[in-house]
Amino acid sequence: MSAADRSPCPGSGTAAFHRRAGELFCEDVPVRELAARYGTPLYVYSGACVDQRVAAVRAAFGPDALLRYAVKANGNLTLLRRLFARGAGFDLVSGGELRRLQAAGLPAAQAVFAGVGKEPWEIEAAVAAGIQFFNVESAHELPLLAAAAAAAPRPVRVALRLNPDVDAGTHAYISTGKQENKFGVALSAAGAVVAAILREPRLSLCGYHVHLGSQLRAVAPYVEAFHKVAAFVDADPARGAGITHYDLGGGFGIAYGDGAPLDVEALAGALLPLLAARGWRPVLEPGRYLVGDAGILVTTVLGEKATGSTDFLLVDAAMNDLLRPALYQARHPIVPVAERPGPSRTVDVVGPVCETGDFLARQRSLPPCRRGDLLAVLGAGAYGASMASNYNTRRRPAEVLVDGGTAVLVRARETFEQLFASEIDLHEA
Ligand code: LLP
Repeated sequence: MSAADRSPCPGSGTAAFHRRAGELFCEDVPVRELAARYGTPLYVYSGACVDQRVAAVRAAFGPDALLRYAVKANGNLTLLRRLFARGAGFDLVSGGELRRLQAAGLPAAQAVFAGVGKEPWEIEAAVAAGIQFFNVESAHELPLLAAAAAAAPRPVRVALRLNPDVDAGTHAYISTGKQENKFGVALSAAGAVVAAILREPRLSLCGYHVHLGSQLRAVAPYVEAFHKVAAFVDADPARGAGITHYDLGGGFGIAYGDGAPLDVEALAGALLPLLAARGWRPVLEPGRYLVGDAGILVTTVLGEKATGSTDFLLVDAAMNDLLRPALYQARHPIVPVAERPGPSRTVDVVGPVCETGDFLARQRSLPPCRRGDLLAVLGAGAYGASMASNYNTRRRPAEVLVDGGTAVLVRARETFEQLFASEIDLHEA
């Protein structure tokens, strides 16, 4: 089939998902076939899209930038290995994510460890694993880190996470760089924390870290944050000595079918000269931008229902599979897997979970579809599977990775036995 036979899938943000003769494809694989083979709800990822995003970020920021993928966005072991093979390291926020990296056989030496509340065992494990930088978020981490560093073969490298009090213009739940957010150290308090780090012989202050929040569309907050950090550093020569890296965090927004994604080239164009002037190497921690558009959630229509005021489309995916609409009122485009002629109508797309907050979309215009039809929820590769739960005793979905004409299962659907395996049933004999 030639490229001319393909038509774009509006809202998908990537040509990896497109239509051929009205049918939705992921690369060269019909999504319908995957649903038939693996069942639904099903996450389907495009390897090519992930590769393109990594290449785009690396091209924009150049070879000097350290790309540290935020594992929390999607920690699938196969995806992690793929990202590493294409030059990414990792941004971790828990000892569990470190274990995940180790399970994938990937080195901690190219991973940074942030996390607003690190437990002692997590700090010890990360030091022992030879983590690249600790993004220190609170002064109380320092004694723990210094104690763990005493046994390390070389000083532990620290980037201090600053809270620059910058409005990222994003949903309140995923804004992290405002004064009222729990993350980082306020600029007013950071001088004392820098001094405390400098007093520790086994800690080496190498950088500053800011992460303003997630799903940012504009470059301006990143620039504003940089200038605030620069002013903080310039206020005292001790704050700038030995600084080699500036971690600008992640947060690179994608379109979700509405407007434009963050302009990564413009971001690099604005920040790279500022960093070069100080000799600071950029560290980037994108999660969503690398994997969000690369994934869809495929779901089957279970039936329809009208209450008089609202028309519902009941589907087999729910808030436990994709929490974002319920938690952030996030708008994910939804498209039929096979196009069907006829007038569109306005529906609420809801799952089987017993909560009114269980919806994938509200008041959405969708082409006609009926029981048994497949729908694809787009932009579901980031914070989809990684935030899935077993609520209502539902098994988390299977995940499939497509590469050209090949699809491989990268996570099997959970079994019910797995769901109960760790429960201790104190039943009476
Ligand atoms: N670095 C740090 C320190 C972070 O806390 C995060 C995300 C990232 C990097 C990656 O952010 P990204 O590039 O993916 O925007 N569950 C929410 C997003 C929460 C993000 C938490 N931190 C959602 O579904 O929108």
